[in-house]
Amino acid sequence: MNQAPAPAAAAPRPWTRRHLLSLEGVCAAEMQRVFAEAERCLPLVMAPGRKFDDLAGHCVANIFFEDSTRTRNSFTRAAQLLSADVIQVSGEGSSTSKGETEIDTARNIEAMGVDALVVRHSSAGVPRNIADHVRCGVVNAGDGRHEHPTQGLLDIFTLQRHFGPDLAGRRIAIVGDIINSRVVRSNIFGLRTLGAQVIVAGPPALAPASLGALGVEVSHDLDAVLPLVDVVMMLRVQFERLAGQSIASTHEYRDGYALTERRTRLLPEHAVVMHPGPINRGLELDSEVADGPRSVILRQVTHGVAIRMAVLKLIIAG
Ligand code: CP
Repeated sequence: MNQAPAPAAAAPRPWTRRHLLSLEGVCAAEMQRVFAEAERCLPLVMAPGRKFDDLAGHCVANIFFEDSTRTRNSFTRAAQLLSADVIQVSGEGSSTSKGETEIDTARNIEAMGVDALVVRHSSAGVPRNIADHVRCGVVNAGDGRHEHPTQGLLDIFTLQRHFGPDLAGRRIAIVGDIINSRVVRSNIFGLRTLGAQVIVAGPPALAPASLGALGVEVSHDLDAVLPLVDVVMMLRVQFERLAGQSIASTHEYRDGYALTERRTRLLPEHAVVMHPGPINRGLELDSEVADGPRSVILRQVTHGVAIRMAVLKLIIAG
């Protein structure tokens, strides 16, 4: 397997990035800086009632040109727990419907005295493009099939809290609609930097052999992969992005790649089940598994708030 070994237990280092647009190129020490900050924030998320005042007087704008439940509300909650003000901008209901460009929208929101823009868009590269035209920090909240860096960080943070900080040698299977997933790319970059091994599994149309170029093993045989891994991360079949790569039928997809109760019995005793959400219950993941004892899915959501607190604090306050 073409897996790059990497230092896993790097010490945290000072944060110097103005934006977080990708996990590609983010080193282990930078990730550990985020995780150290998230550890400090997590008690506030787990037992609400208190706030930090780290970002008092600052303002965060969530600019979501594409729908979201977890990411948008997680960033909102994160900003509130740091005592920041939050502005919400959606594609629908904003002047983008009158033809305003994404860059003009972002520059106008920045001109209201905003310290960071959290941007989601259905096209890859929009957060990067916006970052090139504003002075404040920009966080990519998911852009097309490109990346979703805070999702990658919260997934890795969840694994570190479960297995311990050293993920070197851990095996993570990421299963399903790989080719259309921004979550998978951020996870691959982050996990490989920390020395973990990634296997992607799915039907050939959605998990082509060319993905091996990212340094992962590619498999089309989920039953053969499951006994080998510590973690199975299921991905949503992204029907809205399937153009050009079809699945034969949802029935056939389920047969080959759904994580069913029967299939979880192939996993080692200690293995955990993840999903970034939203879940197509009964397609890629059965409810007995999503809500079962191996699932850490809601823990991912809780950790997501702490990770976003850490990222906002580092981007705005350094
Ligand atoms: N995981 C994730 O990005 O979910 P949302 O689309 O609900 O934000």
